[in-house]
Amino acid sequence: MAKAAKTRTVYVCTACGGETPKWAGQCPDCGAWNTLEEQVQASAPTPAARGRSRGQYAGDQGVRALADVPTDEETRFSTGIGELDRVLGGGLVQGGVILVGGDPGIGKSTLLLETAARLPASHSAFYVTGEESLRQVGLRASRLNVSAEGLRLLAETSVEAILDAAAAERPGVMVIDSIQTLHTEALGSAPGSVAQVRECSAQLVRFAKQTGTVLFLVGHVTKDGQLAGPRVLEHMVDTVLYFESDSGSRYRLLRAVKNRFGAANELGVFAMLDTGLHEVKNPSAIFLSRHEEAVPGSIVMVTREGTRPLLVEVQALVSESPLSNPRRVALGLDGNRLAMLLAVLHRHGGVSTFGEDVFLNVVGGVRVTETASDLPGLMAVLSSLRDRPVPQEWVMFGEVGLAGEIRPVPNGPERLTEAAKHGFHRALVPAKNLPPKGQRPSELEIVPVTRLDQAMDALF
Ligand code: TYD
Ligand code: MG
Repeated sequence: MAKAAKTRTVYVCTACGGETPKWAGQCPDCGAWNTLEEQVQASAPTPAARGRSRGQYAGDQGVRALADVPTDEETRFSTGIGELDRVLGGGLVQGGVILVGGDPGIGKSTLLLETAARLPASHSAFYVTGEESLRQVGLRASRLNVSAEGLRLLAETSVEAILDAAAAERPGVMVIDSIQTLHTEALGSAPGSVAQVRECSAQLVRFAKQTGTVLFLVGHVTKDGQLAGPRVLEHMVDTVLYFESDSGSRYRLLRAVKNRFGAANELGVFAMLDTGLHEVKNPSAIFLSRHEEAVPGSIVMVTREGTRPLLVEVQALVSESPLSNPRRVALGLDGNRLAMLLAVLHRHGGVSTFGEDVFLNVVGGVRVTETASDLPGLMAVLSSLRDRPVPQEWVMFGEVGLAGEIRPVPNGPERLTEAAKHGFHRALVPAKNLPPKGQRPSELEIVPVTRLDQAMDALF
């Protein structure tokens, strides 16, 4: 590493960008309160130094025509964990920076320790922990039953010391657990503060890009589910992964919310056992509760997470409300969408739920963000309201429009194949999603519908 340039810190207003040398409660420029943040201001580099630092950044090749830019695929290498590779878009890319967020205790450290330990010697890993002692990490490793000769550990919270160690180790993959525990000497504020998180990440990201090291950053999540620290952290990295789970469930879902190297929303499924995290290769099976016999309010739908179709069960409970303003609660689905669907059900299906509380839940803690859940959600509500179970051979998907029409969703054939694979016999689908004759799974009777009332007639 070049000797660090002399730095001084300034306080920058997040509202107007004004700078002051001292902290104050109110910005002297725009008058906003509590907007001043400490930031490092490196003294301007000399022209010679600027020349030297060129070649380290993406901008080292000067201006080029798009046609001349080499576009051969980045070489990827596997993490050794199939589900993680899938979420990453097919493996790790040199110089890639991956932020892993999630609630405390969900398994971030466990996943990354397992990943680091399984990497081949050619991509030796360097695991930096600012939260645990080396002994704790060692104990966990022995519990996970991983033997990792190539893995090197460091317990450290100073970014400068970490970068010095990393420069000496030259790892292929570096794990920082967690970014909120680090601090840089350049700033006076406490570890975990916005300024510290931003500056520490910036230094680490720069190191990763310059040396081609893959960098995993663990980030904490605040109470309302946001990654703690500045949003800017998400902009600085290439990939943002969130670890999610239903409370009490042993399944863990790893979701890519941003990925410069693959599809966003890709989902990896793990199970947390006493021997660590294990991949779940056939996740459709775990999100179905497989009742002994059909129960009212339960519908199986085919959703798509990233590039993979997934069968999940939606459950509805509709019951008379004691409230003048009945409750509409959606877990794992969009609450506003539920309100809209109930309005559509009233106008175009002639069924009102004004006096009822409506609860809608996706089993297994999956969060469904696509509109293909409209039709199954509505049918679950109807099934519960009428206390009429839908036979277990049914599976469905489809978007419901405000005019009561059933609209197609992407990748219909793939969803149908997944449903057939899991032994379903009848599928209720938007008519425009009906595959051409030769391409229908033979075991599956497909019932195409264009309007809400047709769907209701088909099921009830
Ligand atoms: P951890 O990886 O420390 O979570 P994070 O780093 O996200 O805070 O996970 C700790 C939890 O996982 C803890 O509640 C115990 C549980 N666990 C197991 O169930 N089995 C295991 O083999 C390990 C290592 C942890
Ligand atoms: Mg941890």
